Amino acid sequence: AAAIACTLGVAALLGSIPWGVIISKLFFGVDVRDHGSGNIGTTNALRTLGKKGGAAVFALDFGKGAASSLVVMAAAALLGGAEAVPQWFHDVLVGTAFVGCIWGHVFSPWLGFKGGKGIAVAFGCMMAAFGPVSGLVNFSVFLVLTLATRYVSLGSVAAALVCPFVSFATFGPNVFANLLCLLGAGTVVWAHRANIRRLLNGTESKLSLGGRKGG
Ligand code: G3P
Repeated sequence: AAAIACTLGVAALLGSIPWGVIISKLFFGVDVRDHGSGNIGTTNALRTLGKKGGAAVFALDFGKGAASSLVVMAAAALLGGAEAVPQWFHDVLVGTAFVGCIWGHVFSPWLGFKGGKGIAVAFGCMMAAFGPVSGLVNFSVFLVLTLATRYVSLGSVAAALVCPFVSFATFGPNVFANLLCLLGAGTVVWAHRANIRRLLNGTESKLSLGGRKGG
């Protein structure tokens, strides 16, 4: 239980670093939250700051998700090393890190418990902790739908909906690991509730790679 609590806490702390706000304020002299959708994630960074800003925010958010796999390794090491930790418990730690970094990002204490929508951070965690095959399968769903419709949010929600299936394929019938992944994916869908509303009433903005746009 202590290992789970520590993994959750440290992953949430990692996830809470609001890179979108830091990069936009530090290098672009604006707060990404005052522009476009007001979100701190890659899509709005791209919309507001342009390609370089978008790429930087993606890399850093993805990076903190990927770094959550180091938290799992540290927890396993503290429990006596990889051999001492049964596979099922290792997978529960992975699920915990997944939820932790998503919750940290979506409910960042540095932003008054508001934050982003968890896509880049979830992909980072999946690629590093679930494994690259699982991560790439999920990313392909996102990419195909986003490119086909030009709605990043649609690709994002679809990827989140597919995530529980990817988690089942990755962890097998491990109830706890799968429930944790469902919780993480559910949080991502919930964070997109305003986007879902806009998609349904036809007012969601499409991705434009034209560069910096006002807000
Ligand atoms: O992952 C975020 C994306 O799906 C939507 O971003 O800024 O259009 O709300 P945004």
